[in-house]
Amino acid sequence: MSKIPRLLAIDTSCDDTSVSVTAGRVVLSNVIASQAQLHKQYGGVFPTVAKQAHLVNIEPSVKLALQRAQTDWTQVEAIAVTVGPGLAPALEVGLRYAQTLAQKHHKKLIAINHIEAHAVSALALPRSRSLTLEAQLAGHAHSQLPALPALAVVISGGHSEFILVSKLGSYEIIGQTIDDAAGECLDKIGRALNLGYPAGPLLETFAKKGRLGRFTLPMAMQGQATFDLSFSGLKTAARALITQLDANGKLDAQTTYDLAAEVQAAVFGQIIYKLERILLSPDLAQKSYPSRHYLKHLTPDQMPHTPIQSIWLGGGVAANRELRRQLRLLLHRHTRKTGQQLKLLVPYSNKLCADNAAMIGVTAFYKWQQGLFSTIAALERQPNLKI
Ligand code: KG4
Ligand code: ZN
Repeated sequence: MSKIPRLLAIDTSCDDTSVSVTAGRVVLSNVIASQAQLHKQYGGVFPTVAKQAHLVNIEPSVKLALQRAQTDWTQVEAIAVTVGPGLAPALEVGLRYAQTLAQKHHKKLIAINHIEAHAVSALALPRSRSLTLEAQLAGHAHSQLPALPALAVVISGGHSEFILVSKLGSYEIIGQTIDDAAGECLDKIGRALNLGYPAGPLLETFAKKGRLGRFTLPMAMQGQATFDLSFSGLKTAARALITQLDANGKLDAQTTYDLAAEVQAAVFGQIIYKLERILLSPDLAQKSYPSRHYLKHLTPDQMPHTPIQSIWLGGGVAANRELRRQLRLLLHRHTRKTGQQLKLLVPYSNKLCADNAAMIGVTAFYKWQQGLFSTIAALERQPNLKI
């Protein structure tokens, strides 16, 4: 087996400064200097404030990531860095610092797409507690990739996308939000409830104490035979409801919990609805699915079979346990209907769901295998980079 390189990875795409050391798919360290407290007062991320914080945090984060990974520069093979998509001033900090480090330590550079990294984040492996790193890297689990094609479901504050992965490095978006991202929708509704930023985790906690059925929120895109999503109508309806409840003095704690449960159900319900249809589409290139009426009369062996072998969940919202539970239920339903068994891969920790550099390092491992390096001069930020 060829040598597995250690990579130092940097992500400053948004509001967190993250640096990681990885060896292949194994994460040796994953430092995240969060700016959440800083941005809380604005209810969102302020690019210039984020840039300043990245400038302060980047050097100590690199030091800490190397220290936690018990790695020195002689052991680092290359530096991976997010070039986009993201906030231009924030991306700039990580990029410039990566260039400086590459020059100083004579390392190669690998440019990484942040969305690709979210899509493959479920492939990251934790450091084994019982094996030496060499033994872990030599092990079977390391080289084995789940069967392809896979469907990466990236649900974050900036993205909500269904990405068909035919092989690593080869992606096609088959469905995506036409307006707000799912996390953005949760955050904006959370803001109307004065929950601070980001609101997703708190809404999850509140939803556990909430009861469904008290309010009706719209679920968009059900009438459209595409794989696209839409969350802005839900956001507007939820905000109007909150304003009305507040004006009538009815926004008590239980009402907030009930609203949180209803909002989560509407957001995840739409994702699950579209995913179910993707899995019932025999021809994904058509980006449309058979009618419910047609499917109703089919026996399990007549049901269309999907080419998709596994689902890879990624992005900040992927940390949500209710979303994961609903995905597992969906896959059970799918097996019952079609006999097909699909695997669900989720990032092994919440840190890997949010913006983090370990997913950048794992993605860079595959680029390294293909010899996809960047020169210092060619490395440019690409705020609107697509997958
Ligand atoms: O991936 P991420 O850290 O940043 C982006 O690239 O957008 O995602 C952040 C988003 C925020 O909208 C946040 O509210 C949401 O992920 N989020 C959650 C949870 N944890 C974070 N949403 C629902 N449930 C959670 N537990
Ligand atoms: Zn992200």
